[in-house]
Amino acid sequence: MSLQNKVAIVTGGNSGIGQAIVLELARQGAAVVIDYVVHPEATEALEQQIGKLGARAIGVEADISKVADLQRLVDAAVSRFGRLDIMVNNAGIETRTSVLDTTEDQYDRVMEVNLKSAFFGTQIAAAQMMKQGGGGRVINITSVHEDWPMPGNTAYCLAKGGMRMLTRTAGVELAPHGILVVGVGPGAVATPINLSTMNDPAKLKRLDAAIPLGRMARPEEIASVVSFLAGEGASYLTATTIFADGGIMQGSVGL
Ligand code: BGC
Repeated sequence: MSLQNKVAIVTGGNSGIGQAIVLELARQGAAVVIDYVVHPEATEALEQQIGKLGARAIGVEADISKVADLQRLVDAAVSRFGRLDIMVNNAGIETRTSVLDTTEDQYDRVMEVNLKSAFFGTQIAAAQMMKQGGGGRVINITSVHEDWPMPGNTAYCLAKGGMRMLTRTAGVELAPHGILVVGVGPGAVATPINLSTMNDPAKLKRLDAAIPLGRMARPEEIASVVSFLAGEGASYLTATTIFADGGIMQGSVGL
């Protein structure tokens, strides 16, 4: 159990990639704060599952697009578990709209849930880590689309591109404090965000064919990378993104 005595927060922690990260960190011995906005029953089920593993977890309902809620999350970690070692900025949404049809509301929401939350999540977590001393880890769940255009998902690409520069810049700024900031860039993962593709056999076939490993990732395959980055073995990694994408960014259609 490589994360014994560590305390983690996972935003958007009760579904998709976030849920898998929560479980893996708990398996490695961390105490976990599970942030969520909907489906309290899913959070409770997760807490119980973690209890059975002999680990500790609490669910906290918080809207991470609001700075006050992010502060409340960090305060909950400290008041319940005494400290904060690992901040996973995972919560994310996409609208699948192009530059031509994205509305102001869609734009604002995508930017605040993906990027603003990661920016202030990093800031508030870093302040706590500096206060307690001993460094820490900030792990931003980005996407291959932090660097790779996805036509028809423009605001999402902007937000993930912003997370790329957040990771790099905050990584440099926080390095003297022993706080490592790393991004994890998944490709296509079998989670609710990709349901429309998964429910369309022709689309799914095209997607699988574009991935050198021939299939979407399971959420656990992203969670294992996060757990590595949270641990001792990743002590020299900062200000960069690790892509776990089955090779999709290097893929070729073989024309
Ligand atoms: C997006 C998915 C997309 C995947 C691969 C993810 O970041 O959320 O909609 O299928 O990247 O392109």
